[in-house]
Amino acid sequence: MPDTTEPDTTEPTTAESRTRRSEPAKSDPALSSAESGVQRPPAEVRHADELARLRETDDAPRPPGWALSLRAARAFVVGDPSRGISAKFVGNPSLVDRALVTLATTRGLMLVGEPGTAKSLLSELIAAAVCGESTLTVQGGAATTEDQVKYSWNYALLVAEGPSPRSLVPAPMLRGMAEGKVVRFEEITRCPLEVQDCLLSLLSERVVAIPELTGPDAMVFAREGFSVIATANTRDRGVNEMSAALKRRFNFETVFPIADLDTELDLVEREAGRLLERSGVRVAPRRDVLEVLVRAFRDLRDGTERLSSVMSTAEAVSVAHAVGLRGWFLRGEAGTAADVVECLAGTAAKDNADDLARLRRYLEQQAPRQSGEQWAQLHRARHLLSG
Ligand SMILES: Nc1ncnc2c1ncn2[C@@H]1O[C@H](COP(=O)(O)OP(=O)(O)OP(=O)(O)O)[C@@H](O)[C@H]1O
Ligand SMILES: [Mg+2]
Repeated sequence: MPDTTEPDTTEPTTAESRTRRSEPAKSDPALSSAESGVQRPPAEVRHADELARLRETDDAPRPPGWALSLRAARAFVVGDPSRGISAKFVGNPSLVDRALVTLATTRGLMLVGEPGTAKSLLSELIAAAVCGESTLTVQGGAATTEDQVKYSWNYALLVAEGPSPRSLVPAPMLRGMAEGKVVRFEEITRCPLEVQDCLLSLLSERVVAIPELTGPDAMVFAREGFSVIATANTRDRGVNEMSAALKRRFNFETVFPIADLDTELDLVEREAGRLLERSGVRVAPRRDVLEVLVRAFRDLRDGTERLSSVMSTAEAVSVAHAVGLRGWFLRGEAGTAADVVECLAGTAAKDNADDLARLRRYLEQQAPRQSGEQWAQLHRARHLLSG
């Protein structure tokens, strides 16, 4: 059974020595013991026990270089109660199957969708399942350069010794290729087009040329297991449209918001409960308060008082977290509907006066139409809306 840190690979590449020295101490027990102080450890650390259990029992065929079979990777992402594997991404399992199959081909996987629909979470979970590591990540942005994608140099060594494998500093893409790992490219459409274009030959030829070096070091060949998962936001696509040539090298999968209210409510309850526990809050969030919160988010996302701000599930989780923190640290109890109103303005209205007006109308006119004590409280607390 191959180890996640050393997937079953073919011949070593010339970049092996180069990449060895910068390998993260992922399997290092020190990392897990340091976990307690880390706000959000990577998926392979958060779910290390589940990954280990899946590896032990996984006897299904797996693509070359993969740490888990497709079936086990899918169970890791969407959960499998019969094996005690928790559901982490809530969504259509066939989307996960398609995503995994794409990664086993030579095409990249592009996850697109509205903000806060768990594209980043899904790419992190898939990377952790497929290669045991989700931290080979390029965080795309307007200032991203080709150096941050492929490689750069240690300038002190470069001046002292000239270009050499020692002075080369591999970036995530080069490391992923040399080690046969999944590389995540977050928010790819925020990058300038010329940076996006540097992926073209890399994805089709599966090799990076380093012209400054000579001999076998001048080419880094991708090992089995290398693949790319990119994410892009449908709202920000206009920032830098994706180049047509790059589109052809990716299979697109759209991640949709959670359609069913109860499923979304369960997720918000679970995630907010987890965050509150980490924050030292001793009371669980109230289900009736969360239901008001999630319903209000859904109304403000799609209803007649639709806001221009993003009212995603991710935002709902963070408001539910804030509501619980207010209740506990200010009064020593669970958060209430009045706390929801206090927290809503900063999330929903942000800097848009029209959104604030819509939110006021919602609390004024639509909240009293709903039945239940928490809705009545939400309505009564409308004057707490700041701004
Ligand atoms: N379908 C879902 N399954 C699991 N968690 C979800 C889902 N939708 C939203 N979430 C929540 O949202 C959080 C993840 O949001 P994430 O940052 O991955 O979204 P995103 O689509 O990458 O957003 P952005 O476009 O802003 O980058 C999760 O930690 C979880 O709490
Ligand atoms: Mg994201």
